[in-house]
Formats: sequence, structure tokens, C-alpha cells
Amino acid sequence: MNPTYDFKGQVALVTGAAMGMGLATARMFAEAGATVVLADFNEEALGKTVADLEAAGHKVLGVRCDVANEGDVAAMVQRTVDTFGRLDAAFNNAGIQIPANDVVDVPDTDYERVMAVNLRGVWNCMQAELRQMQRQGSGAIVNCSSIGGLIGNPGLAAYHATKYGVIGMTQSAALENAPRGIRLNAVCPGTIDTPMVAKMLKEQPKAMDVIMGKQPNKRLGRPEEVAAAVLWLCSDAASFVLGVALPVDGGYTA
Ligand code: NAI
Repeated sequence: MNPTYDFKGQVALVTGAAMGMGLATARMFAEAGATVVLADFNEEALGKTVADLEAAGHKVLGVRCDVANEGDVAAMVQRTVDTFGRLDAAFNNAGIQIPANDVVDVPDTDYERVMAVNLRGVWNCMQAELRQMQRQGSGAIVNCSSIGGLIGNPGLAAYHATKYGVIGMTQSAALENAPRGIRLNAVCPGTIDTPMVAKMLKEQPKAMDVIMGKQPNKRLGRPEEVAAAVLWLCSDAASFVLGVALPVDGGYTA
């Protein structure tokens, strides 16, 4: 998939960039000319991804960061600005899934962890990025929600709570920051062929039949199909698009 947008001279930040949708988005930003900061807490995978992108001739920086840790996130944004002078676009993508369980059976530790990464993590990133973008008076942020932020699913109440929450914080922050020239939006991916989904399908092989039974176009999404939506939302082509929760789901929620 060829990038359609021109991000030359811009600095983009992607969290959870070592693999999956984060990697696809970081690569697409780089192919569109951006300098890209890739953040992830999996140092080994991040190192490999950064080396691959550098070998392809892209200008990238890998930063180890646990998005659930406020200090890590502040340091990541500071390093971005110290190194490249600005921050134009951010995709707050890092997130985790927890084992499916009825509400009454969800261990507290699972609940706390998914809240810490998927909700607090996006919050931490958005807050640190907005501080920089407000100083600049420009920028675009895309937060990663899910179809799980638009409709329910038995067994995944805690995960869905985080993804509904991401939409709420995105829309409120979008309204706050519109007068400052900063746009915030969310993407809501359907089931995308990433390591996260591969792991889930390995653990629950029957899940594929259940998903495909409800999937209008009868296939999984590709990480690049989400990346393309993120680049569009961050580009000037989407200059009047603000506070949306955009499904990229092959019609799943239609
Ligand atoms: P993935 O598991 O394939 O990749 C996630 C990346 O995030 C990994 O590199 C991982 O090391 C990193 N990460 C996880 N926790 C982190 C933390 N605390 N700090 C920094 N990095 C961290 O996941 P995938 O599928 O690419 O998902 C990305 C995002 O998209 C997540 O927010 C997920 O909830 C969301 N999503 C995924 C869908 C799918 O079908 N794959 C569907 C809808 C939403």
C-alpha cells in the first residue's frame, strides 16, 4: 500500500510501534517522509523494527517506554522534542488484551492492567503530547479505540470499557483543543491481522468462525489498512475532521 500523504519535515510519534498496527503506521509515516519516533516497552522487538526501518533509509528513533508509566511518557515526548525540535502527529496505539472472562470472574489484576495500559496509557500520552502541541499551536493526535469502543462483546467488558473511555477522552480533548489548532480523533479498528489477534486465535481456534460469521467482507483487516486511516486523520486532507471515532472494520459495526 503506497502512502498518499506528504509528511516531509514533520515529526510523528507512534506508541506500541514494535509490531502490529503500530509498526505498520510507523512505517507508513516514514514512507510518507516523516521523521518517526517509535515507542514500545518490548525493547528487543523495538530494536529489530528500528533497525529494519533504518536499513530501508528512514529517519527513525526508538524509545523504550511503558505508556502506563507517566514518567516514561513524559521522558519520551521530551526526548522527541529535544532531538527533533517538534511534534506534529501522534498515534497513541499501544494497548493490550486480557483473557476473556465473565464480569464476575475477571481477576482484579487483569482489570487494573488493562485500565493502566489502554486508558491511563492513552491519557498519559495525550497529556504529554498536548503540552508540546499547545506550545507549537499545531498538531494532530489519533487515539486507538476499537470496534470494542462502539459495541459490546460478552467476556470483554473491561477491555471494552477502556475503548469506550478512549473515545470519550478523545472527543472532550478535541473540543478543548480545536481553538488551539490541534485536532484529535480516534480510530476504531475491527479484527486486524496482528500478533495480538494471532495469539487470541491460537488460544481460541473457534473464534475465527464466530468473527467471520459477523464480518460482512469475510476477512481480517490488514495493519496497513488502519495505518492509512491514521495517516489520513493526521494529514491536512482531514483538516476539518475533528472528534470522530472512525470505524476501520470492513463493515462490522455498520
Ligand atoms: P499487538 O499486540 O500486535 O502490538 C501491540 C504493541 O504494543 C506491541 O509491540 C507491544 O509491545 C506494545 N505495548 C503493549 N503494551 C505496551 C505498553 N504498556 N507500553 C508500550 N508499548 C506497549 O497489538 P495490535 O493488534 O497491533 O493492537 C494495537 C492497538 O490496536 C491496541 O490498542 C489494540 O487494543 C487495538 N486494537 C486491535 C485490534 C486487532 O484486531 N488487532 C482491534 C481493535 C483495536
